[in-house]
Amino acid sequence: MAHKEISLTLHDFITSNCKHPFSVLDLGCGDAHVSSMALKDSPVAKYHGVDLSDIAIDFAAENMESYSCEKSFIVGDFMDILDNYEKEFDIIVAGYSIHHFPFEEKGVVLKKCRDSLKPGGSLLIYDILRKNSETRTDYCNRAYDFCKRNWSGLTIDEIETVFTHVNTNDYPESRESIEELAVHNGFGKIRELFRDKSELYIFFHLPY
Ligand SMILES: C[S@@+](CC[C@H](N)C(=O)[O-])C[C@H]1O[C@@H](n2cnc3c(N)ncnc32)[C@H](O)[C@@H]1O
Repeated sequence: MAHKEISLTLHDFITSNCKHPFSVLDLGCGDAHVSSMALKDSPVAKYHGVDLSDIAIDFAAENMESYSCEKSFIVGDFMDILDNYEKEFDIIVAGYSIHHFPFEEKGVVLKKCRDSLKPGGSLLIYDILRKNSETRTDYCNRAYDFCKRNWSGLTIDEIETVFTHVNTNDYPESRESIEELAVHNGFGKIRELFRDKSELYIFFHLPY
């Protein structure tokens, strides 16, 4: 899922834009591997990681162990947790964690993110990508074909299991639909920081 390129993109964005101590909210942080690699050369002052999974949160705490900044690891639904913050973070990262929400609910997430950002802050979203011309079904078929051809480490049964989940739960957005949500919720002009060759994964910067 282009983790290496995404981690590098996040690292480059942070090192170029965060020269002074800054705060990060990591929505659906998982094991925080990507964030821990991306933040390592920057003066992070506060890191809050949120995830539904207590196991993931334990790994996140481990991966962020070397950081001496103020840290908090929260088990919970970020849709609720976001209500606790107002103009508090310089950076909010949502990595592969909002594609389960249908379009309208993504709008609610974006609104809450904007309210939680300090003016001048940044929302960074990396996630699966639907091409603008594609329906959700087209996306699922394209992703399935790609994975069958390229995920040589998985058996066909394992790929089928992954895609039962994808077909049921994933609502990928296109660049245009994310743009629409960003404008509607008060963000500035969005910027595409990375798109992989297969056009299955994308990384956006949504400025406050
Ligand atoms: C595919 S993982 C990505 C983890 C990490 N951000 C990364 O880039 O590697 C998605 C994570 O989002 C979490 N997640 C999904 N929806 C969530 C929600 N509403 N509240 C909190 N965590 C959520 C899942 O538990 C999972 O750990």
